[in-house]
Amino acid sequence: MTPTTGDSTRLRRELAESLAERGFLRTEPWRKAVEAVPREEFLRGGFFDVVPGSAPTAWSPVLPDSPGWLEQCYRDESLVTQIAGTIVPGDLRGEIMRAPTSSSTMPNLVVRMWEDLQVEDGHRVLEAGTGAGYSTALGCHRLGEDQIVSVEVDPEVSARAGISLGACGFFPELVVGDALTGHADVRPFDRVIATCGVLAIPPAWIEQTKPGGLILATVCGWMYSSELARLTVREDGTAQGRFLNGQISFMLARPHLPPPLGLLPDLNIGDERGAVHGADVLDDWTARFVAQVAAPRSQKITLNVDGRDQHVLIDVEAGAWAVLTRDGEKWTVRQGGPARLWDAVEEHLTRWLTDGSPSLDRFEITVTPDGQTITWPRRTS
Ligand SMILES: C[S@@+](CC[C@H](N)C(=O)[O-])C[C@H]1O[C@@H](n2cnc3c(N)ncnc32)[C@H](O)[C@@H]1O
Repeated sequence: MTPTTGDSTRLRRELAESLAERGFLRTEPWRKAVEAVPREEFLRGGFFDVVPGSAPTAWSPVLPDSPGWLEQCYRDESLVTQIAGTIVPGDLRGEIMRAPTSSSTMPNLVVRMWEDLQVEDGHRVLEAGTGAGYSTALGCHRLGEDQIVSVEVDPEVSARAGISLGACGFFPELVVGDALTGHADVRPFDRVIATCGVLAIPPAWIEQTKPGGLILATVCGWMYSSELARLTVREDGTAQGRFLNGQISFMLARPHLPPPLGLLPDLNIGDERGAVHGADVLDDWTARFVAQVAAPRSQKITLNVDGRDQHVLIDVEAGAWAVLTRDGEKWTVRQGGPARLWDAVEEHLTRWLTDGSPSLDRFEITVTPDGQTITWPRRTS
C-alpha cells in the first residue's frame, strides 16, 4: 500500500462503519478490505459531478486540486470517471451533456456485491468491468491478487486501473477485452462478478465456472429496469438462481447497448384496439421488468405529437412497434410490424398481476444452451 494520510485512514474507517450500520458490510474480511483500500487512488484523474438542475443531465469535472476532493472521494455514490467513451475529467473545462461510460461504482453496491458473492479463501474470481479498479482492489485485498482476473473492454480505462491498483500494491491479471466472452484459462473460476449490466447471462461465464460456483450479475433491459441475479452453475452446464432485492442498475455491457433508433417507421399505420394496460403501468419498476421479459429487445420512448404524449415501444431489429395514447381514463394501442409487442407485454403483465404481483426477489432465472428464462411463482388456486 502507498502511504496514506491520516484523513484517508479516518475516511475509510468512517465509510466502513457507515456501510456496516446500513447492512452492506457484513463480514470482517470485507471490513478490513474497505478500511485498507484508499478509494482516492482510483480517482486520481478526477471524476464528473452532475450539474445541479440540468436536464438532460450535464456533467462538470471535479479534479484532485478542488477543495474537499478527498472527502468527496468517500461519498457513497458512483463517481463517473469517463464520458462518451473517451472523455476524462482532465479533458474538460465546463460542462458536457453525454452519457457516462465508466465509473467507480458506489461503495455500498461494490461491498454488497462482494458479500453476496459468498467468496471463500482460495476462490478464483472473474470480474467483468474493471472500471476505475476500486472493486478489483477490494477483491485483491480479500482473496489475493493471484485469485482475481478482471476484464475491461476499454484499453485506456484498464491501463488507468492498472496504475491505481499498482499504487495500492496490487497486481491482479487485468485483461483488455469483452468480458462477455469471459477469460478462457486452464483453471475454471469459482465465482463471476459483473459490474456492468447484461441483457442475458453470457454462456461463457457458465462454461468457465466450476459446477457449484456462483455468478452474480445485474440483468437489465432496454426499458431500464434491472435486478441483481445470483446463479449457481450446475453439473449439466446450465445455471439457475434467484434475483436479490435492491433495484440494482449498472451501465450496460457495451455489446448489450441498444441499437440507435434511426428513422422511425410510420406509426400511424397499424392495428388499433383499446388497451387493457396503459403505458403508465411501466412506471412501476417490477412491472417494467416483466414487460422487458415479454419484449426483450424493445426500447421505450415518449413522443409529443400535436400536444399529446405517444408512448412508443419499438424493437428496431425486428421492425415491430406499439404506440400507446391516453384519452381520459382510456388507453388505445396501435401496433405494427411482424410482432405485436403490446399484446406480449399485456399477456405477461396480466399473468404477473393474477399471480399476486410477486416482487423481483421471488423471480427465478435459468440459463441453458437454449437461452435464458425468467419466471415467477405461479398462483395455482
Ligand atoms: C460501472 S463500471 C465498473 C466499476 C468498477 N468495478 C469500479 O468499482 O470501479 C463498468 C465498466 O464496465 C466496462 N465494460 C462495459 N462493457 C464491457 C464489456 N463488454 N467487457 C468488459 N468491460 C466492459 C465499462 O467500460 C466500465 O469501465
